[in-house]
Amino acid sequence: MAAKVLSSGIRYSDLPESYVRPESDRPRLSEVSECENVPVIDLGCPDRSHVVQQISLACTHYGFFQVINHGVSKEAVERMLEAAHGFFGLPVEEKLKLYSDDPSKTTRLSTSFNVKKETVHNWRDYLRLHCYPLHKYVPQWPSNPPSFKEIVSRYCVEVRGLGYRLQELISESLGLEKDYITNVLGEQGQHMAVNYYPPCPEPELTYGLPGHTDPNALTILLQDLQVAGLQVLKQGKWLAVNPHPDAFVINIGDQLQALSNGRYKSVWHRAIVNADKPRMSVASFLCPYDHALISPAKPLTEDECGAVYRDFTYAEYYSKFWSRNLDQEHCLELFKN
Ligand code: OGA
Ligand code: NI
Repeated sequence: MAAKVLSSGIRYSDLPESYVRPESDRPRLSEVSECENVPVIDLGCPDRSHVVQQISLACTHYGFFQVINHGVSKEAVERMLEAAHGFFGLPVEEKLKLYSDDPSKTTRLSTSFNVKKETVHNWRDYLRLHCYPLHKYVPQWPSNPPSFKEIVSRYCVEVRGLGYRLQELISESLGLEKDYITNVLGEQGQHMAVNYYPPCPEPELTYGLPGHTDPNALTILLQDLQVAGLQVLKQGKWLAVNPHPDAFVINIGDQLQALSNGRYKSVWHRAIVNADKPRMSVASFLCPYDHALISPAKPLTEDECGAVYRDFTYAEYYSKFWSRNLDQEHCLELFKN
């Protein structure tokens, strides 16, 4: 690579060799389905049992859904996107002050996924921030653009509120007490990936992010409104999740798959790139606290299958996840009984 990050201002006319996927592992964009979309759930609906039922259906059949009237203010969302664009628009030498390819660093700019481990790179730069508790991490965050810390802090607080609310609804949708999930996960960690996918000279040959599942509990994704790129796997076919105005895309992570004893799936998803426009997305991840004991909920293990997964701590899971390649088998497979 000529530069450490893609967002260095260099325009590539060909895809560098280290990004080219083998023929058997390319996005095959013409085969992606556009005729179905993931469910859109209105959280402003006063009929709670209706919302719970929609969540149950979405989590069972898709592992993904979108939410509208979610309570995160439009202003917080718009300013978050401005701050993200502001950061990636900085001169490359300013951005590189935060560069690191060490996944254990709590604030870092990086590229691809796990540059030191992977054999093929992904067409993505990302700013990864730990976000909870804020007072611990905000001092490490970018101080440029000058309003970055304030804007992103506010966004994080609002998104966290949404995450907890969703976890209550998800608990209920599994027939569990409303606070079941939040009790098990403890004081949850919160991370953010601000993903920047520059225009790519040959989008058919590479990924922004290859198919993966998220290792955390719940992901709240703010997608670029103008540029599509997220796709989810449903019944063996990739489905485009087209941006919906004012919506967040929500997905079940590996930890909720384990807690639900596999009823809800942490579904494979990927980000593809395009030739013309840069794409931005902001992923917020809620994670169990490190020592949380993840175990299939008892009431969900009382059929002939029993507990599908063994008990583990989140710390154990997370270190296993980062020791692998992103597109290997589902990490939860390694924790089956
Ligand atoms: C992620 C992710 C999708 C996107 O960051 O884990 O899946 O559209 N992002 O950027
Ligand atoms: Ni993801």
